[in-house]
Amino acid sequence: MTAKKTSQSAKKAPIGIFDSGIGGLTVADAILKQMPAESIVYFGDTAHMPYGEKSADAIRAYAIRITDFLLENGCKAIVIACNSASSVAYETVKQHVTGRAVVLDVINPVVEKVSSLKKIQQVGVIGTRATIRSNAYAQGITSKAPEKKVSSLATPLLAPMIEEGFFNNNISRTIINNYLSRPKLKNIDALILACTHYPLIRKEIGDYYKRDILIVDSAEIVAAKLHAMLKKGKLLADRKKAGSKRFFVSDLTSSFEKSTRIFLKGKIKLELRNLWKG
Ligand code: DGL
Repeated sequence: MTAKKTSQSAKKAPIGIFDSGIGGLTVADAILKQMPAESIVYFGDTAHMPYGEKSADAIRAYAIRITDFLLENGCKAIVIACNSASSVAYETVKQHVTGRAVVLDVINPVVEKVSSLKKIQQVGVIGTRATIRSNAYAQGITSKAPEKKVSSLATPLLAPMIEEGFFNNNISRTIINNYLSRPKLKNIDALILACTHYPLIRKEIGDYYKRDILIVDSAEIVAAKLHAMLKKGKLLADRKKAGSKRFFVSDLTSSFEKSTRIFLKGKIKLELRNLWKG
């Protein structure tokens, strides 16, 4: 194959995106909006959801298996569209991939962005137990911007609640208000949604605050970072029409199917692929 052909096929290759479930679709959606010519292969590890309650070792093992699947599907980039996995498996995935694809997590781009915002002093972080236990946001932000204060709160009920399709109702509002009213988050001027499921309840979170606060959702920040990385590697798809999209799940549940449709608007064909079956 000539060098020209090689680079043409690399440009056409899909972007691999994974999460424990539907949360990563918020990132997939932002990627497709910013780069409509790209093809994607999405993997939702619904059989092992929620990752936030798993040990770091278990999450790393899931992440490696999914990464292999995405590489087998010819992906030019692997986007870890899950904070729980990004917080404990980013380095492992990067080492495993070693140059076969671009690897991007959802934490570092947000840490860079928030650290650069001069007006923000008190930052709140909400996420799963795994993400909060890793302390990745607090460490990242205070090492880049030592003047900022970061308070992190684990909000373990939120991701399973969203995955079950419980949002924009009384139950979700009660749970959200209970978490956001904790003293830890009292004087924050920015709140990082450190779980890719949370953009689905962004409005409810915004409604809780009567004052002006910056709500930071990683989807657009991550999509912009990916665009820059692909551009630098001369890997951006240059086809005129939209790319192809495939959505895999390790366990097909009706609530997942329903939420997926609400989320990506329109019918999505879900393909069941249990990567752990012998
Ligand atoms: N969406 C995932 C995250 O960003 C996690 C939800 C879960 O599986 O616990 O952390």
